[in-house]
Amino acid sequence: MRNLWRDPTTLAITCGKGIVPYLKQELTELGYEILGNNETMVGIRAKNACRDILRLNLSLRTAQRVLWPFVQEVRCRTLDDLYRLAYYAPWEQVLSVDESFFVNNATHDVATVNDTRMTTLKVKDAIVDRLREKCGRRPNVGDSVPVRVVAEGETLFEKKTPLRSAMRVVRAALEDWLNTLSEEQERAELLIEIDGYDLMSGSFYLPKLDLMVLKRRFERTFGARLTGGTPGAAVFVYWEGTHAKIYIDTTGNSLSRRGYRKEGWVAPMQEALAAACVMATGWDKREPFVVPFSGSGTPAIEAAMMARNILPGTLRADFAFMHLLGWTHIIPGEKAGESVRKRFGATPQAIWREMVAQARAAEVPATDPNLPTIVGVDWEEKAVEIAEANAEAAGVGSNIKFFVDDFTDTSLPKGPGVVFMNPPYGERLEDEESLVPLYEGIGQWLRTQVPAGWRAWVITSSKPLSLKIGLKTSTILPFKNGALDCRLLGYEVFEPAAEAEEAEASEA
Ligand SMILES: C[S@@+](CC[C@H](N)C(=O)[O-])C[C@H]1O[C@@H](n2cnc3c(N)ncnc32)[C@H](O)[C@@H]1O
Repeated sequence: MRNLWRDPTTLAITCGKGIVPYLKQELTELGYEILGNNETMVGIRAKNACRDILRLNLSLRTAQRVLWPFVQEVRCRTLDDLYRLAYYAPWEQVLSVDESFFVNNATHDVATVNDTRMTTLKVKDAIVDRLREKCGRRPNVGDSVPVRVVAEGETLFEKKTPLRSAMRVVRAALEDWLNTLSEEQERAELLIEIDGYDLMSGSFYLPKLDLMVLKRRFERTFGARLTGGTPGAAVFVYWEGTHAKIYIDTTGNSLSRRGYRKEGWVAPMQEALAAACVMATGWDKREPFVVPFSGSGTPAIEAAMMARNILPGTLRADFAFMHLLGWTHIIPGEKAGESVRKRFGATPQAIWREMVAQARAAEVPATDPNLPTIVGVDWEEKAVEIAEANAEAAGVGSNIKFFVDDFTDTSLPKGPGVVFMNPPYGERLEDEESLVPLYEGIGQWLRTQVPAGWRAWVITSSKPLSLKIGLKTSTILPFKNGALDCRLLGYEVFEPAAEAEEAEASEA
C-alpha cells in the first residue's frame, strides 16, 4: 500500500473550465512536470509526496482541488461495480473513523446512472461498510439527520441537516431565540433532538444555558469531534463512461474558497476564476490595475495578493489533508508521522508549519513603495463596503483604493496599466436590452478616457452586448463563470486617430 505522506506519486489538480492554461502556468512556475490534462484536470508528477501535496494546497491560485489517486482506473459499468471497487480499497489506512468524510464526484456519460448523487452515495456506503468491518465502528459521514429545537412549545428549528452542521444550527437557533427574550424570563422548557436522540429536554435556567454543555453532550452522543463546521476528509470519484477512478481529495472545500469573503454580493466571481482572469490579462504586478464594476472586490483582491506574494493557502485554517490518518492520527503500525519523519526529517504537521511560516516571511510588506496602484470602483456603496472588508480580511486592505462612483468617473492613475471589467451580463442581473447603453458606455469610455497604451479587458457572457462596445478585440479567451459560458475580451487602447479605424473593424 502506497503512503500518501511518504511516497512519490502522480497528482491530479482540478480547476474550472477555461482555467487549465493558467493552472498549467502556475504548476510550471512551481517546477512541476506536467503529464497531461483534460478540460478540468491537470496531471503532474509529485516526487516529494507530502511536501508537494502541502505546497500545492498552499500555493495554487487557479485550482480547485489536489487529488491523490487511490483506486486506479478500472472498468465500472454499474453502481454495484462501483460499490465493489470502493469496498475493496484499504480505506482503513487513510481515513480515520473519528473524523467525518465527504464524497464528491464527477460522473459523465454513465448509461446506468441518471442521478450523480447515487455515485456519492454508493461510494460512501462502501467506505462506511469497509471501515465498520475493519475498525469495528462506523465513521462519521455527512448524512443528514432530523434536527428539532423547541423552546417554550415554539418550534425554533425542524429540518434534516448534515450531522456536521447540526450543532451549529441548534446553537444559532437558540442564540437567536435567547436574544428575543425579555429580561424577566428566567426559566424555559427546551427540547433539543438530533437524529431522534434527546440531547437536552426539560426546564432550564436561561442565563446558565451553557452552550458548551450542549456541545459536549453532542460530542458524547454522536462520537463526533466538532471541528467548527469543517468538512473533514474528502474523497473524489471520477467516473466517465465505463471507467471509474477514486481519489483522496487532499483539499476538501475548494481552494477557490480563500476565506476572505465575509459577506455576499450580487454575482461575485469565484476567487480562482478571478485569479485566472488577472493572469490572462498579462498584468505584470507592477503597473496599475484598475477594476471598474468591482462588486465585492474579488479581482482587485486577487491582483493585490499576487503583487504582495500572499499565498492563498496562508489564509485558510482547514484542508482535508488535516483529517487524514498520518496527520494527527496514527497510521496502523506506526507512530503519527513516523514514515514521513524518516524520509523528510519532520512530521507532516511540522513541515506544514514551516511552509506557512516561510510563505509569510516571503510576502512583500504592505508598505513596500514599489507595490502597484490597484483601484476598484462600484457605484453601490454597499458593494464598496463589502469589498473593503474582504480586502482587509485578505490582508491587502491598504493596497487597494476603492471608490463609490459610476464607472465612467473612474480616474486612472499614471499608466499605462490594465483595466479589468466584469460588468453585469444581462443574464443574472438585468435583461440584455437594458444593458445596451452600459456596454456602449464602456466603448465610449475606453475611446475617450483611457489613454493610449493601456490594455482593457471585459468579461461577459453576452456576445450581442460585447459587440456594443464597438472596439476591435485583440484577444478572446473562453471561461466558464458559474454556469455561464463567458469570453474575456482584450482591447488595446490606441491613439484616438487609430481608434476610429479600429472601430470599423469591430469584432466579427
Ligand atoms: C457582475 S458584478 C461584479 C462582481 C465582482 N467581479 C465580484 O467578484 O464581486 C457587477 C457590478 O457592477 C456594478 N455596476 C453596475 N453598473 C455600474 C456602473 N454604471 N458604474 C459602476 N458600477 C456599476 C454593480 O453594482 C455590481 O457590483
